[in-house]
Amino acid sequence: MAKKQIDAKTTDVISAQPRLHQRAGEIQRYGTVNHLLPLELEEPVRLEMTAQLNQLLADTMTLRDLYKKSHWQVAGPTFYQLHLLYDKHYDEQVELVDSIAERIQLLGGVSIAMAADVAETTQIERPPRGREEVPVQLSRLLDAHQVIIREVRTLARRASLLGDDGTNDLVVSEVLRTNELQVWFLSEHLVNVPLIKAKEPTVTAGAA
Ligand SMILES: [Fe+2]
Repeated sequence: MAKKQIDAKTTDVISAQPRLHQRAGEIQRYGTVNHLLPLELEEPVRLEMTAQLNQLLADTMTLRDLYKKSHWQVAGPTFYQLHLLYDKHYDEQVELVDSIAERIQLLGGVSIAMAADVAETTQIERPPRGREEVPVQLSRLLDAHQVIIREVRTLARRASLLGDDGTNDLVVSEVLRTNELQVWFLSEHLVNVPLIKAKEPTVTAGAA
């Protein structure tokens, strides 16, 4: 019996044995979109939008992970409040990651997903593996937010111009507003005000 016939016979047998270690070619290449979708959005528009959304996704995944790094590694008198705040922001970024990734898929594209691919794509500066002091953690997070906010504003205008209202709505209502609010909560920690004793106004010489 030819080998092909034997293989066909064994794979057709009904069995409880899981078919392990399977591999096959991709069903859709990264960087492409499905040709025909009933979305009333032309293929070139969906191609451009998914490319820009993938950049935003890679940066949002990086910011998400930067929050978890900060949550774990924070040190000092503000440990407890920052430990909790960083995790709250992390959870909100997790939600954004899912919304952006699923927007890419529903536009017929392929979402970037794995850490190695994200690392090659993100525009956010890579931090060291070790721990850093609080002002540096906060500054890194704010810089990452700024990268994202800049690209979101550009993407929102472009989406509106191309008629992709769904993408415009997502990046303004969810991504931009969440990032703006998180920037506020972080930046207030970098205001140098007295903790216990108010600074008295200095009396200038000759004043009445
Ligand atoms: Fe935790």
